[in-house]
Amino acid sequence: MNTYVTAEIIKQLREKKGLTQSGLAKIIGVSDKAISKWETGKGLPDISLIEPLSAALSVSVAELLSGECIKNENKSGNMKKSNFFVCPVCSNIIHSVGKNLNSCCGINLPPLEVEEENERHTITVENIGSEIFVTVNHEMTKTHYISFIAYVTSDRCELVKLYPEQDAAVYFTKRGGGTIYAYCNNDGLFKKELQ
Ligand SMILES: [Fe+2]
Repeated sequence: MNTYVTAEIIKQLREKKGLTQSGLAKIIGVSDKAISKWETGKGLPDISLIEPLSAALSVSVAELLSGECIKNENKSGNMKKSNFFVCPVCSNIIHSVGKNLNSCCGINLPPLEVEEENERHTITVENIGSEIFVTVNHEMTKTHYISFIAYVTSDRCELVKLYPEQDAAVYFTKRGGGTIYAYCNNDGLFKKELQ
């Protein structure tokens, strides 16, 4: 059966949290019987209970609904593990430094896959005094353009939003090595490692 939350995930998370069925029932204000029904697939929690249920089970709504719990091993927030997410509906941009589940406009967003720069998305970096001048040799039309360029080093992420009909060119203050990311609205995310 196709359901928005599975019996197994509710049971698993409740047991992991060390709660009895009645303990969980009390927290979210339903009967013990309701929890038992959900865990045996005989019923589903009302959609209005999804938020309190996820809070009681110490997971996000996205994790509860996807059945996938994210364990973030990246305790130090290593910038080298940067992920970018772009919402295909509203073009929201999210940056994270480890695994997570993001949702926007009602859609779960997977992290963008990163490719090395290619001949159609060449990232050029010029040293100009204390700055670097980054350009992407790419069209900037309304339907196909570089939507952002980001410069990520061990301690910061600087992201510049770009729009059609401007140049795909950005100055950043030089900070040693790091990675330049360029996101094309049609072709995805490209990177170039700096020495
Ligand atoms: Fe492109």
